[in-house]
Amino acid sequence: MKFFRSLCCSGLPAFVFLISLLAFIGATSSSSAFAQAESQAKWPWMNPSLSADERAAQVVKEMTIEEKISLLHGTGMVGLSPMSPLAVRSNGGAGYVVGVPRLGIPDLNMADSAYGVRASGENGKYATALPSNVGAAASWDVKAAFEYGALIGREIKAQGYNMSIGGGVNLAREPRNGRTFEYMGEDPVLAGTMIAGLIRGVQAQHVMGDIKHYAMNDQESGRNAVNVHIDERSMRESDLLAFEIGVRNGNPSGVMCSYNRVNGDYACENKYLLTDVLKKDWKFKGFVLSDWQGTHSTVKASAAGLDHEEPGEIFYGAALKEAVQSGRVPMAEVDDHVRRIVRSLFANGVIDDPPQKSVVDVMGGFEVSRTIEEHSIVLLKNQAGQLPLDAGRVHSIAVIGPHADVGMISGGGSAQVDPPGGNAIMPPGKGQTIWNTEIWFPTSPLKTVRAKAAGAKVEFNSGADAAAAAALAKASDVAIVYAYQWESEGMDLDSLSLPLHQDELIAAVAAANPHTIVVLETGGPVTMPWAEKVSGILEAWYGGSQGAEAVANVLFGEVNPSGKLPLTFPMSDADLPHREIVKPPDASTTHGEPDDYKKIAAGLPAFQTTYDEGVKVGYKWYDAEKKAVLFPFGYGLSYTSYKYSGLTVTPAAAGAKTQVHFTVTNTGSRAGIETAEVYAALPAAAAEPPKRLVGFSRVGLNPGESKDVTVEVDPVYLSIFNVKQNGWQLLAGEYGFMVGGSSQNLPITQSVRLQ
Ligand code: BGC
Repeated sequence: MKFFRSLCCSGLPAFVFLISLLAFIGATSSSSAFAQAESQAKWPWMNPSLSADERAAQVVKEMTIEEKISLLHGTGMVGLSPMSPLAVRSNGGAGYVVGVPRLGIPDLNMADSAYGVRASGENGKYATALPSNVGAAASWDVKAAFEYGALIGREIKAQGYNMSIGGGVNLAREPRNGRTFEYMGEDPVLAGTMIAGLIRGVQAQHVMGDIKHYAMNDQESGRNAVNVHIDERSMRESDLLAFEIGVRNGNPSGVMCSYNRVNGDYACENKYLLTDVLKKDWKFKGFVLSDWQGTHSTVKASAAGLDHEEPGEIFYGAALKEAVQSGRVPMAEVDDHVRRIVRSLFANGVIDDPPQKSVVDVMGGFEVSRTIEEHSIVLLKNQAGQLPLDAGRVHSIAVIGPHADVGMISGGGSAQVDPPGGNAIMPPGKGQTIWNTEIWFPTSPLKTVRAKAAGAKVEFNSGADAAAAAALAKASDVAIVYAYQWESEGMDLDSLSLPLHQDELIAAVAAANPHTIVVLETGGPVTMPWAEKVSGILEAWYGGSQGAEAVANVLFGEVNPSGKLPLTFPMSDADLPHREIVKPPDASTTHGEPDDYKKIAAGLPAFQTTYDEGVKVGYKWYDAEKKAVLFPFGYGLSYTSYKYSGLTVTPAAAGAKTQVHFTVTNTGSRAGIETAEVYAALPAAAAEPPKRLVGFSRVGLNPGESKDVTVEVDPVYLSIFNVKQNGWQLLAGEYGFMVGGSSQNLPITQSVRLQ
């Protein structure tokens, strides 16, 4: 509109302007129609009215073996593989694949993008940081997951990429996993549903999306060597169920197979995972790409179902060509790999609507990031209505905690998004993002609290000296401690305790001031020996570009918290299924030497970890073992209160969805959003843990308002996996349905017979 006004009012008579404009529009649209017709005449697969399968079949038929092979591998990454000279044409992302311009097939430019586009700074670009993925899962809001993915898709595309390689959904079976922040929590139904929403959001922008790391990559320690032992039924009902839901409901273009071995074979050459389960049982139509340096063979991997090697061409370049020519890999197998890639490009509109580099909408990104964070923050404790703070009545506030004056922490590794202006804790101009270094986003808790409580004296103490922090707390009406635990790819946490003596700091502050509120910036659960002593606790996860603003909006009541924990907070490390993470016998085998990648490619000696807790991940473990927890899965408080009533369960005919109806009422005096959670206890013959999440619904309610809710339960969520029949089986018997606001607060129950 601005463009129109400035032209039209620059002295050009309006009618001349209009006629020129119409002529211009006519000319451009007819010339683009002409170009389209010309390209369709030359390349019939450019006709968008054909199906993606048809288009892919046509183009694959035209390709030479060299062109096919070129689509089946990347062009290298320093330190992980030799570099191809063609890599200079890359857009700067983690993966660059040379397309087939002769046939109109574009290069693939892949960017890491777990909570935003990675390494944008390195390429002179900008990206929004969203809240960490586990934080987004805490919203239990599928629409928010879609918006999360849509923002990533838009920014990926604006930067000139056509594939996002985010989409982490490994279950938090081991919450000390250093990538817990990048995943979607401990429950397969919640995690799978949320990741599917995210992938749909990415792909709606006409870029390809991905789900990863398939599968059982539940620890970082020794990830290139570890062999995970787990029984098939447990695996299908836990970690693989999250992927199954993500693949079926999200339709990702890519599935990234993981570094580790599963029951003997590397995940990227594991026929059970890639062919039997993913491609046959789940009917996955996209392509499998290896994690970066996760390919270990040519013939075995290709036969097992690996379609594409990243980042280089150690196994899927000349070696694959030779294997085809010598008859060790059938051409039909290669054609299937290629077809899956080309099909995904067509199916997601990448070819019909290719990326045009453009400016990222910074302010729009802030808005999305802040809103999602506001829905993701979980209020864990609010003694005597300490929160929300009344800005008009608080005269002095102590803001305490490492770097709480300048920023909030973010998750590290290949998920890392660069902060605008550089790392908030570095001197100005020295803000380069460095691998395995804490990166703080310039979203300042101190400034946002000052802005909210304009009339109060708001002072800062870093907490480095606990006594000084306690003295400031003592002299203030309220103390807010921002505590953090950093996580990153490539490492696991030694324990769930807060590092850097922050437990002692919080205890000292709480002893000095009974109005102490703790804001946690963590990637997953932490232990809280001080929980009884403080009056308020908020879990803010890694809050993204606008974390401090979102936290302040919750602290001061502009936003009523509605997040619920996507994973259990146990009492102590000793309550976890495993006392310690099994570490590789020689942790140094793969670090430092320039050609270490050769050792990894050849396969490092395996060491074993056994997931004998099986299906009992997260709350299923604590329930079955009757262990008390600090804060249960699904838990989260609000500034209002809710009541549940009137449960009726209508069993469905075989194969259809069971309907669970109930009413939720807002019994407090503030508007709020409640996530209603539906759990089921299976018949005893199923030999399952006491309950499992089978559905949920977010309900917005004004004070005093009631709403009738229906949750439809997929029969798979009520089934066991029958290994002999290789399928889901709904056992006949009594099912207990339980509904409420957390896995340990389920006030309405009904038992029904199914089948
Ligand atoms: C990570 C992947 C990532 C890839 C490319 C690997 O180290 O495990 O999640 O997509 O690197 O950066």
